[in-house]
Amino acid sequence: MESKSISVFAPASVANVGCGYDILGFALHEPGDKVIMHLNDTGKVTLDHIEGDEGRLPRDPDQNIVSAVVNYYLEKTGIHQGVSIELYKQMPFGSGLGSSSASAVAGLVAINELTDTPLTREELLPLAMEGERLACGNAHADNVAPALLGGLVLIRSYDPLDVIRLPYPENLHAAILYPHVEIPTLEARKILKTNIPMTDAIKQWGNVAGLVAGFCTHNTELIGRSLEDFIIEPVRAMLIPHFYEMRKIATDHNALGFGISGSGPSVFTLCKDKKTAGKILSLLQERLSKDGIDSTPYLSAINKTGPIVKRMQ
Ligand code: HSE
Repeated sequence: MESKSISVFAPASVANVGCGYDILGFALHEPGDKVIMHLNDTGKVTLDHIEGDEGRLPRDPDQNIVSAVVNYYLEKTGIHQGVSIELYKQMPFGSGLGSSSASAVAGLVAINELTDTPLTREELLPLAMEGERLACGNAHADNVAPALLGGLVLIRSYDPLDVIRLPYPENLHAAILYPHVEIPTLEARKILKTNIPMTDAIKQWGNVAGLVAGFCTHNTELIGRSLEDFIIEPVRAMLIPHFYEMRKIATDHNALGFGISGSGPSVFTLCKDKKTAGKILSLLQERLSKDGIDSTPYLSAINKTGPIVKRMQ
């Protein structure tokens, strides 16, 4: 083994991308989480340092997502290895930006790199999805897949797993605003209806097809027309302060579209350029601060590369 210590940053992601509940997601450049990992000869996986979580994450290695996925990895590959983990949480919990996914992906990429990459990034995906199951009770891939593979990802099927990296116009910029209200994904999934009217389903799959076609043909107007979600957003929007007012601000200022990032409360807009995205972001933040609601803004192009690996020796 070439290197015994490594640092991996894995990015946040915007899941659903409007109408693609559980099947579409893209990676951001920031925020994200960092894992520093060291191999040792203890034969055990230990969590030796966690920073930035305000003491909220489980210290038990079976319950903590990073150590849990590292253990899944070692079981799957049959590698017997002592591992010491340091987790640096650099993004908020329950924000709708794929916080648990970023941690799981950073851990998996780190152990895979340290053991001379026996698995491909695609083979790591089911393990990262198990981390998601531990975090929120459901093994969806629309955060972990973009965090792991980078770019814009479509999960065409879960059984069998069929994941496709989609092209997209390079000029696209996302403006993301995280209002400081916490919405646990588990809760945001519980409130959804389990049956949907056929008329809504027809509108929704028209939009999913339109959105994918728009990304593939670099047709930004078509992307904008297709971003609307008729099924999930009407239920979850009520959890987000001033959601519809923020949408109007975004669309009045040339956003291609506006929606909930993952299960919220973060909201996102896609814009044709960075300047438009930046302007909308300040207006959205201003609107929330008028009512005393703090928020954190993020401005990012779609992150094509995914995790950043730094060997430490
Ligand atoms: N697709 C998921 C949801 C993403 O909307 O619940 C959040 O993890």
